[in-house]
Amino acid sequence: MQQLKRLPAMAGADLDAPALTPAARRGDALDAVDTPSLVLDLDAFEDNLRTMQVLAERHGVALRPHAKAHRCPEIALRQIALGAVGVCCQKVSEVLPFLAAGVRDVHISNEVVGAPKLALLAQLAAQARITVCVDHVQALQSLSAAMAGAGAKIGVLVDVDIGQKRCGVQTPDDAVALARQAQRLPGVDFVGIQAYHGGLQHKRSLDQRRKACEKAARLVRTYLDALDRAGIACPVVTGGGTGSAAFDVASQVYTEIQCGTYAFMDSDYGNIDWGEALAFRHSLFLLGTVMSTPTADRAIVDLGLKSTTAESGMPWVVDQEGVRCVAVHDEHSTLAVDDPQRRPLLGDKLRLIPSHCDPTFNLHDEVVVFRAGKVEAVWPISARGMSR
Ligand SMILES: Cc1ncc(COP(=O)(O)O)c(C=O)c1O
Repeated sequence: MQQLKRLPAMAGADLDAPALTPAARRGDALDAVDTPSLVLDLDAFEDNLRTMQVLAERHGVALRPHAKAHRCPEIALRQIALGAVGVCCQKVSEVLPFLAAGVRDVHISNEVVGAPKLALLAQLAAQARITVCVDHVQALQSLSAAMAGAGAKIGVLVDVDIGQKRCGVQTPDDAVALARQAQRLPGVDFVGIQAYHGGLQHKRSLDQRRKACEKAARLVRTYLDALDRAGIACPVVTGGGTGSAAFDVASQVYTEIQCGTYAFMDSDYGNIDWGEALAFRHSLFLLGTVMSTPTADRAIVDLGLKSTTAESGMPWVVDQEGVRCVAVHDEHSTLAVDDPQRRPLLGDKLRLIPSHCDPTFNLHDEVVVFRAGKVEAVWPISARGMSR
């Protein structure tokens, strides 16, 4: 193989490189925040936290918000301060920043397979109350061996597939068999089942969503009945998301809900019919600057796929009548303008509602939080990228 030539020392390498100034500082006007930035309206966010907490408490159901929605410990701490019992994480490494910030009760709402992850899980379980999902006896045995080997104990929930067709055991008999194994093996405690159905969450019509949630709850009941017949106590039934929460809390089967997006309300959730059931507000926005106005019917804003994802649709432009985002490129988004008189001007700051909050948070190092147009703080998204 040909050796790479060493580059000669760059002329001027001893010069001081300019430092990047922070995008925002406390006290800045929102309009002065550099772009692209992810920004959070604290009034709307706090309202959303309260609304979901009140809903859960009214039905005697625990709220365990999904932290994969934001990956931000500052947000998790506020959810817990309002009464949430802890958080969910989807990945083992994702737990680390939350633990460091003081969160002591984490459910990993996912299957964990592989020696490095199990070793980390055992370390986490030695320091906090951790629960995890299983759907295969081999995975359960590996989990048990890792925990027992490290002198740790972990709570397990049998993941049951209630129609999502992702992970999860397929029959009540399989759930009973796995729960029995969990009761016998060292290092693990059977604490309940997880029954989450992502496909229900965005069903557009309220009525269809209600019917689908009721059907899912009936299926959960068949699992609970089978465990009951087998003499296995099942104290925890966890699941549910923002779209199904109102029905899950009333279902009489869930003891805990795992909603994540309710705190932010992306445009994907903005598209579904809420009826009068629950009123959540859009609190999360992308702040962009109009960087080009090449034609009367087009404006280009300085944020693209490196600031927002688009798999759930285009972000929505806020407060600009007749202006729609029609394409998201790597570093730009294209806005179509119906009326040239209303075309945003070069340098204008625009707010856009991201279409899917979880992967959008994961693209940013920090979220700028504001109230009444003024920056109050900048919160690190510390679990960003922690997907192992
Ligand atoms: C297992 C699990 N629980 C809860 C949620 C939270 O759902 P939402 O953000 O729609 O409230 C998700 C989201 O994908 C999930 O995968």
